[in-house]
Amino acid sequence: MDMTDEAVVCTCLDLTVNDIREAVRAGAQTLEDVQRINDAGTICGACVDDVQEIIDDELGRMEAEQ
Ligand code: FES
Repeated sequence: MDMTDEAVVCTCLDLTVNDIREAVRAGAQTLEDVQRINDAGTICGACVDDVQEIIDDELGRMEAEQ
């Protein structure tokens, strides 16, 4: 998938890759945590695999920065 920050990952809610990264940066560690912040993937569900991929990628980045 397109992982650039401006790419829309959740078309139902118009959420971008960066919106998911921000939720992770705000403390979310799981799909459920992210959904509590921005509802990603809670409408049609088609984007949940991509959202999970971004969460994993961002958690990896944060770990690498420590
Ligand atoms: S594309 Fe994300 S809930 Fe539909």
